[in-house]
Amino acid sequence: MSEPENVPPGVDLDKASPARLYDYYLGGKDNYPIDREAAERIRAVVPELEDIAWANRGFLQRAVHRLAALGIRQFIDVGAGLPTQNNTHQVAQAVDPAARVLYADNDPMVLAHARALLAGSPDTAAITADLREPEELLGQPAVRELIDFTQPVALLLVAVLHFIGDEDDPRGLIGRYLDALPPGSYLALSHGTADHQAPQALRVIDGVYSKATANAFFRTRDEIAGFFDGLELLPPHEGSAPGVAFSGDWGADDPESSDSDGSRWVYCGVARVP
Ligand SMILES: C[S@@+](CC[C@H](N)C(=O)[O-])C[C@H]1O[C@@H](n2cnc3c(N)ncnc32)[C@H](O)[C@@H]1O
Repeated sequence: MSEPENVPPGVDLDKASPARLYDYYLGGKDNYPIDREAAERIRAVVPELEDIAWANRGFLQRAVHRLAALGIRQFIDVGAGLPTQNNTHQVAQAVDPAARVLYADNDPMVLAHARALLAGSPDTAAITADLREPEELLGQPAVRELIDFTQPVALLLVAVLHFIGDEDDPRGLIGRYLDALPPGSYLALSHGTADHQAPQALRVIDGVYSKATANAFFRTRDEIAGFFDGLELLPPHEGSAPGVAFSGDWGADDPESSDSDGSRWVYCGVARVP
C-alpha cells in the first residue's frame, strides 16, 4: 500500500492514535489505515461507537456553552483532539466573540490541523503539550500570553483522563492544574466507564488501545465522581441534584430522550472551584 501524503512530522503510521481513532469515530478524515482498521475491530463488538463519540462531543459543546453563559471567558482545553464541528472556540465565541481558548494536545496531528483551523482566529492558540506535565503546559509562552490567571478559567479535560493510568496520579494532576486557577474557575470533565459493559467488548478495546500510542483505562462512577472532590458540582440539568451524569444526559433539554447505549460509556460533570 502506498504511504499517505502530507503526514505531519512526528506522526507514527504504524500505531493507531487516540486522536485519529476519535476523529474516525466522529466521521472525520484526519486518520490513516491503521486507525480505521483498529476502529473497525472495536465497532464489530461495539456497534454504538459513533454514538459514544458524538454523545461525548455533545457534552463538551453543552458544557462550554453553559460555562460561557455563566460568564467564563477563558478556556484551557487539554486533550482537545482534532478539530471537528463546533469546536470549543466556536461555541464560546458564539456567546462572546472575545472569549479566549487555548487548545493543548500531545498528538502531533492535532497541532498541525488546529493551527490550520485557527489561522486568522484571534484569541485562540494551540500547543503541543502533555497533560501529565501541568507546570510545563501552563508555563508555555502561548498560554501565558493568552490566559489571564487572575481571572476565572474553565479547564476542560474531556475524554482525555482515561488515557492516564493510576501510576500517573490523575487526581494529583487535576489538583496541580486547579492550584494555578483562581476561585470561580471551573473543571469540565468526561471519562469512559466500563460499569455497564460486556467483558468481550472491553477485551477488544483493551487489545486495540494497548497497541496504540496510548492505552485506555476505564473507571467506575465513584472513581470519576472522586475527580471532583473539593469542588462544587453543577446539576447536570434543570431539576436534577448536583453530580455526574452520562454524557447524553448532561445539559440535555429532554433527559428522558437523551439516554442511549453510547451515552452510557461516558460519565461527565462540571464543577466550580470554590
Ligand atoms: C478522545 S479524544 C477527545 C477530544 C476532545 N477533548 C473531545 O472530547 O471531543 C482524546 C484526546 O486526548 C489526547 N491525549 C491523550 N493523552 C494525552 C496526554 N497525555 N496529553 C495531552 N493530550 C492527550 C489525544 O491525543 C486525543 O486528541
